[in-house]
Parts: sequence; structure tokens; C-alpha cells
Amino acid sequence: MRKLAAGNWKMNGTRAALSELEALAQAHPTPSVDILICPPATLVQPAAALLADAAVAIGGQDCHMARAGAHTGDIAAAQLADAGATAVIVGHSERREDHGETSDVVREKANAAHDAGLIAVICVGETLAERDAGHTLDVIGAQLAASLPETCTAANTVIAYEPVWAIGTGKMPTLDQIAEVHGFLRDTLAARFGDSEAAGMRLLYGGSVKATNAAEIFAVANVDGALVGGASLREDDFSQIISALQDAL
Ligand code: 13P
Repeated sequence: MRKLAAGNWKMNGTRAALSELEALAQAHPTPSVDILICPPATLVQPAAALLADAAVAIGGQDCHMARAGAHTGDIAAAQLADAGATAVIVGHSERREDHGETSDVVREKANAAHDAGLIAVICVGETLAERDAGHTLDVIGAQLAASLPETCTAANTVIAYEPVWAIGTGKMPTLDQIAEVHGFLRDTLAARFGDSEAAGMRLLYGGSVKATNAAEIFAVANVDGALVGGASLREDDFSQIISALQDAL
């Protein structure tokens, strides 16, 4: 499978930030890994237009579960696709926390993404209290079971393991802890979707990934790339992470 370096810009960036994307595309004309940037919704269309001929794909950060209708402020998956997105993040812990999104909601959003022809980047991850209580795999198993629709395939689904306590904190699980969770993800996906689909689903690690720790994370078994927040905002930082992923092939 093609490894994936994905950036989540969260609520950062105005049109001035499009120059970072232009530089990113120029720095990676023929990458040996997939590159995805999920900018804020206002930038999806201009970014996709700017990068139409480039090897950097554009995604949304969230979509509504409904196909259309009276949902003020929300965006349908088909609207993201129409704007040029090829993927959408669903179930990020900031959505789960800030907007009370349950795994049942996340599943419906992922299903809407698939219906619109988008890759769903489905996020799971434990809190520090859950890890300290020894519940990490139970929590992630429950999130996976409820957050993934039946429509998941290797081609249309990416799973991002993002420990909530590692996001934006500079804290990281140990490499053994990442390996344990990613192995569990692969096994759980295989039990539900079969070995060959599960083998082709990209499993991303996310949470304080930087140029300085990317190489050791990418050397961990079943880590097929990263979902990067802060270090995806600037071309030079993210390019180093992309290079580390390419070097890990
Ligand atoms: P940071 O890389 O800033 O820790 O954010 C990770 C994240 O939440 C990506 O979705």
C-alpha cells in the first residue's frame, strides 16, 4: 500500500497560507508516498484548485452525516468533493470533545464520506485517564466497532490513532505502546473486514509528530504514516516528515 503523510491544519490558516501549499507541492513533484492536507473549510476549494495538477491531495476536517438539508453551518461530504476534496477527517477527538460527537455519529459521517466518494480518515484514541486505568485497548476497540461503517474498504478508509493526551502537548506514547495499539487495530480490522482489506488500510499515528521524532515512529510495525497537526502548517516542517516517511520505505 502507499504510505500517507496527512496534515490537519485545524482552525489555522487564511488565504495567505496557500503559499505553504504551493511550496509543498513544488518540493514533492513525484513523491513515493501519498500527501494529504486538510485545511480549514474556507481553503478547501482554492487549495484544491491550486494543487489540481500536483501530488498533494486536499481534504476536509469534518462533514455532516446528512446528504443535504437544514443544517446551518455544516458541510455535506458531497460539497467537499465538489470543492475538490478527496478525503475528510471524521471523529477527531476535538470534534468528539467540542461537539459531543459519539462513535455512532462518526460512523454515519464516515458512511456519508464513502457515499460521496471520499476517503474517510477515521480517528480513535484514548484519554490519559483511560490509559492510566489500563483501558486503552478496550476504549479503542469500542470506538472502532462503533465508528466504522460497513462500507469501509482498504481504498476508502484510513484509521488514525491519536492518543488525546499526545495531541499538541509534545507528549508521546512509547514506541512499544504505539506498536501495541497499531497491531491491535490491524487485528481488529482483519477480524471484521478480512485480512486483505485490513492489510491495505493505512494506519496513521497522530499526536506531537515532528521532524525530530518522525523516523522512529515510521519504523514501528503497522504504522503506515502520520496525521500531523502543528508540524503540518509550515512547508519546511512537514517536508521533513514526508522525507522521513519516504526514507522508511
Ligand atoms: P499535533 O501534531 O499538533 O499534536 O496534532 C495532532 C492532531 O490532532 C492531528 O489531527
